[in-house]
Amino acid sequence: MADRSSSLRARSDDGRSFAIPDASGTPFIAGTLLIVATAGERHLGLVEDREVDDDDGRDALHGRLLGRIVDTGFDPHGGWPFADATVEPADAETIDLVHAAMGATLEIGVNLSPPIRPARLLAHRFNRHTFWVGQSGSGKTYALGVVLEQLIAHTSLPVVVFDPNSDFVRLGELNPDADGPTADLLRQRDIRVLRPSTPGSEPLRARFPSLSLEAKAAVLRLDPVADREEFNAIVHLSDTLSADEPGQVLPALLGSSDPVRRALGLRIENMGLLNWEVWAGHDREATLVIDERADATVLDLGGFSTPDQHLVVALSVLDDLWERREERRPTLIVIDEAHNLCSPALSSPLAVAVRDRIEQIAAEGRKYGLWLLLSTQRPSKVHPGIVSQCDNLALMKMSSPVDLAGLAEYFGYAPAALIARSPWFRQGEALFAGGFAPAPMLLAMNRRLTPEGGSDVRVPLR
Ligand SMILES: Nc1ncnc2c1ncn2[C@@H]1O[C@H](COP(=O)(O)OP(=O)(O)O)[C@@H](O)[C@H]1O
Ligand SMILES: [Mg+2]
Repeated sequence: MADRSSSLRARSDDGRSFAIPDASGTPFIAGTLLIVATAGERHLGLVEDREVDDDDGRDALHGRLLGRIVDTGFDPHGGWPFADATVEPADAETIDLVHAAMGATLEIGVNLSPPIRPARLLAHRFNRHTFWVGQSGSGKTYALGVVLEQLIAHTSLPVVVFDPNSDFVRLGELNPDADGPTADLLRQRDIRVLRPSTPGSEPLRARFPSLSLEAKAAVLRLDPVADREEFNAIVHLSDTLSADEPGQVLPALLGSSDPVRRALGLRIENMGLLNWEVWAGHDREATLVIDERADATVLDLGGFSTPDQHLVVALSVLDDLWERREERRPTLIVIDEAHNLCSPALSSPLAVAVRDRIEQIAAEGRKYGLWLLLSTQRPSKVHPGIVSQCDNLALMKMSSPVDLAGLAEYFGYAPAALIARSPWFRQGEALFAGGFAPAPMLLAMNRRLTPEGGSDVRVPLR
């Protein structure tokens, strides 16, 4: 194609956005980075929309100015309006310079829009909440692993992974072909994997006496109003229940002449609470392990013998992080399959307690250094109060128009034309937008350095 860019003209009425009234014959589409230059300034511009064949029969481009390329690197603050600027595609050197100037150092893939350069994220902007969404099989968990490897290798931000499908239990190992600086750094990192009952692994446990009164009530499925008498009994027993394990308290409850205490005892016995393997006993509870602030702590929530036990661990960990928020110790809380813990439809007291705590961390955790990364296949199954707090977006393939429409509303910083391409993404392709991306970008994820999952069942081949 003939080079039309030398004759292209752009204008900006506000110093923040730009328009190219006639871009007919150019290959530039949403996602393309351009250098828009006036006599005195060079701006980096992102095409957000191509209006094909407008009323005058021309293709018009609209986009945003990301910042100015200056001697010292890159200035992300806006410039002045301009009436006439030249336009050319951004070159590889400029992209690398902008990444370096912005601190985009975590290399996670390769850009899909020219120039084809490494796609990088800003490590320091994980100090916001991140929403990660894509349909089942789009490659979320795999890609999340790529990002976690980068964070663990190149930052000292402790990561706590809520892993419902045992997908990250091998995060501390390396693939046989893994090499390079990131692999070398990963080899030195302290990665703990806590599992319900896998011989050789550190156990994943909670301690009943250490739970808050509200958490104990939720474990016992007690509602303060509907079950006011039994709830009141645990209020009066709070000292005992904070000192002794349920097994030590149970005989006294069952033998009590007080019918409410006896009812509480029957409840504990009927629920089979004493048989739950989640209780710490002589083991260490997960909160103590997390408190050691290893580079990553993986909580394998999938393998408990009965439902609810994983919620006990989740609640104990979230409550403990929240309880100690004033210590302001940065922690990235990663929740894969977040709809399991954040759905608006959850109704059991324990599930609601977990969700409420996540909602509170979403609303108030940022300033205490409690940052969430939530991954899900259905945005509508994460409570809107949580989604609306997310300033970073990773979007993988999603075919459902309903789900996509909702996203464009929440994540105004992600250009609608890029969100609209999601149904055509291949596995491992993604849109990253928001504070942690140097600019909204489409990319193909890099390969993992660490092995996935522990429980993949493969088809036996001859
Ligand atoms: N970028 C990729 N390169 C190679 N294989 C991938 C990639 N992304 C996903 N896969 C594979 O595809 C399957 C589904 O990916 P997964 O990350 O589990 O999807 P999701 O979490 O979105 O359901 C897995 O077996 C994974 O190994
Ligand atoms: Mg997954």
